Amino acid sequence: ADGPLPLDMIRGVPAIMRNPLAWLERVVDRHGDLVAFPMPTSSVLLVNTPAGARHVLQRNHRNYSKATIQYGALSLVTGSGLLTSDGEVWRRHRRTLQPAFHHGGLDQVAVSTVAAGEQLRAAWDRVPPYAPIDAEAAIMQAMLTVVGRTLFADDLSSAGEELVHAVDRALRQVIARATNPLAVGPLSRLPTPSALRMRSAVATLDRITADIVARRRAQGVGEDDADLLAVLLRAGADESGAAWMTEREIRDELVTLVIAGHETVASSLVWTLHLLADAPQVQERLYAELDQVLAGRPPAWGDVPALRYTRAVVDEALRLYPPAWVITRRATGPDTVDGVDVPEGTLIIVSPWLLHRSAANWPEPERFDPERFLGVDRNPAYLPFGAGPRLCIGRDFALVESVLLLATLLRDRAVRRPAGVRPPRLEALVTLRPKRGLPMALVPRIPS
Ligand code: HEM
Repeated sequence: ADGPLPLDMIRGVPAIMRNPLAWLERVVDRHGDLVAFPMPTSSVLLVNTPAGARHVLQRNHRNYSKATIQYGALSLVTGSGLLTSDGEVWRRHRRTLQPAFHHGGLDQVAVSTVAAGEQLRAAWDRVPPYAPIDAEAAIMQAMLTVVGRTLFADDLSSAGEELVHAVDRALRQVIARATNPLAVGPLSRLPTPSALRMRSAVATLDRITADIVARRRAQGVGEDDADLLAVLLRAGADESGAAWMTEREIRDELVTLVIAGHETVASSLVWTLHLLADAPQVQERLYAELDQVLAGRPPAWGDVPALRYTRAVVDEALRLYPPAWVITRRATGPDTVDGVDVPEGTLIIVSPWLLHRSAANWPEPERFDPERFLGVDRNPAYLPFGAGPRLCIGRDFALVESVLLLATLLRDRAVRRPAGVRPPRLEALVTLRPKRGLPMALVPRIPS
């Protein structure tokens, strides 16, 4: 270690803001996998052992809340939705929303994903052969369409682009605050340009979600409608019921699901294409499987179990580029994590980015090798969707979407990084994003 840790931390503030992933890597390189440091407001423990991470998220989850800077900043946009709420409110909402994520919903997810994938192919078809398009922007839009269709039974067509931009603007302000200790607390209420940008983005989100709700109310919600918006609106109408929700709670869940439901999946798909473009051998194996299972036709929900290597590609991309690269908790009482005393109030930082790239957990961690996910038990260091009761509610949705979008795009085409274009720079925003989009060509290939 060079220099005492608190000093490292104070000097670290600009570095955290500039490149939080590099900063996290440096901290564990210098100080080990369980790093405690004092901050002005509370003590912090960076937990980078699989056992420690699972202790906090799973085994002793009752001792931890989401009252953290990360979730505080996010709640400026999402309000008190599933991602940010705690305790009884969270439990009641999770119970109410869970049925909308049950297995039955997945065939609708599959249909919408394949349709969105076909539209994406058409976008590539509109440019000259072998010319690139910005795959990030296109995939972001596609995944938003899927969220609209599957969760809200709404095609969002009129609002789609505006919604993607409003989410992007709002989340950039969220991450600026979450990585800048000065931007939380009383200072955050000053009408700075950043606060005004945030306010305007949130106002746009409010308007669009209010429109979605109004459209659906006008159509009417059927007793048997199982999509998430129907579940929310029924809860809103049932004032005497245990699942009752206020208008504000409905808005908060809607914004939460728009945000959690599309950018994460889009981020994972973007990095999957990036990794594939540089890995001809993985591409070969993937195409062999797609050819064998699909023989050139579009995929369907029933193909998912047979697309085992495709799924391993998705799993491996989520290992190297976990969209949710940091997970935080606050200790509500004292605890001991992997032998380290944790006083009440400690901020816990768990980083899937670090856990997924540590040589202590994975052989050749930097290598893109989907093989490591075939036929082996889950590695406890693998946490792309979190763990314990706060495990991602959209995990199964996300996996089906990712596998089927890849299969739709690549069933008879190959991804290529355009000549002369360098791999993208990584930007750790609320999810991991390529700095200036991802120019990518999709070129024909003849299924074998
Ligand atoms: C929670 C990651 C897709 C909705 C989480 C958490 C992670 C995560 C790590 C836990 C956060 C924590 O413990 O603090 C991802 C990744 C995705 C993805 C990597 C895609 C590859 C989705 C989708 C949806 C969704 C598609 C909705 C359709 C949520 C919600 C929560 C959550 C509502 C909060 C759950 C709760 O606390 O009860 N996600 N997610 N996510 N995710 Fe996802």
